[in-house]
Amino acid sequence: MTQNIRTVFWQDGRVALIDQRRLPHEFHINTYESYTAVADAIRTMVVRGAPAIGAAAGFGIAVAAQNSTAASFEQLQRELHEAERVLAESRPTAVNLFWALRRMMNRLGTLTDLPLDQVRAALLAEAQAIADEDVQTNQTMGAHGATFIPQNATIYHHCNTGALATVDWGTALGVIRSAHEQGKKPFVLVDETRPRLQGARLTSWELMRWGIDHQIVVDGASGHYMRTRGVDLCIVGADRIAANGDTANKIGTYNLALAAHAHNVPFYVAAPFSTVDLSLANGDQIPIEERSDDEVLCIGSERIAPEGAKAGNPAFDVTPNAYITAIITEYGVIRPPFEERLRAITAARR
Ligand code: MRU
Repeated sequence: MTQNIRTVFWQDGRVALIDQRRLPHEFHINTYESYTAVADAIRTMVVRGAPAIGAAAGFGIAVAAQNSTAASFEQLQRELHEAERVLAESRPTAVNLFWALRRMMNRLGTLTDLPLDQVRAALLAEAQAIADEDVQTNQTMGAHGATFIPQNATIYHHCNTGALATVDWGTALGVIRSAHEQGKKPFVLVDETRPRLQGARLTSWELMRWGIDHQIVVDGASGHYMRTRGVDLCIVGADRIAANGDTANKIGTYNLALAAHAHNVPFYVAAPFSTVDLSLANGDQIPIEERSDDEVLCIGSERIAPEGAKAGNPAFDVTPNAYITAIITEYGVIRPPFEERLRAITAARR
């Protein structure tokens, strides 16, 4: 990321996060000394984006272990289960959060015979591995995905899936970045992404830094641009992919997929395998986060709706698999029927 600063990292015994609420106007790193503070940073979207949330949760367990004064493994284990519970309640949709917590707790389960200072060190190493692997995964995904990007392509993108949404590089935006680095000169239509404006604030900020040409457009413009301008492809990220390929992503993704389908525009999802949740048969089972009405009724701190107006604010929607051309992962590109391939890759990784 910027000057090699990652979105999530460990610094002097604390969890360091780029404060994404302050971008693009201020670049600020916050540091967190407790797992409760990390959970709060996830809830309030200091850190957001499925892989970045997972990495932050991993370091949240590491900081809980570091702060613990437990005198026995059993006591430490009880405390870390409580940290896991609190972190797991921070946001419900991105499965990477639960994936990272499970990985940390599984690692803990292998450390029963070690002195406690070695347990703490091993948990920090595991959190660091989650973060390091994420960067590698994204670059591999970027290389796979870039093969689908033609020269001078016009690409639709929703939300923010760049270095900021991951530890570094990005998923869908990482694919665009890889294509850019291959000299393909992509042009990106950036959905502003109401209500939190991840597109207008964060994706544009990243594309500016990388020197990728783009325009910010309102979320409702996709049908118009596909009909009048010619769009080569859409590429988005994912917060959770069910076994049949149904994909939860930022609210508005489904509308974009419908517009793409109507105009025969290929619709790609780029996500690491940690976003796949084979325990859910289909997208109807994915928990969708409802956020505060104020995110819709206000822009920033200014209220725009009349007093007394009510709002609905689902943070995510589910795009049915029928609208997805292919899912790009670190293990290659998966085409329908998705379930068979997703299960085969999972079995091969065991
Ligand atoms: O609410 P957010 O900003 O955490 O939502 C982020 C998204 O929906 C991203 O598209 C998704 O997490 C994939 S990020 C690589």
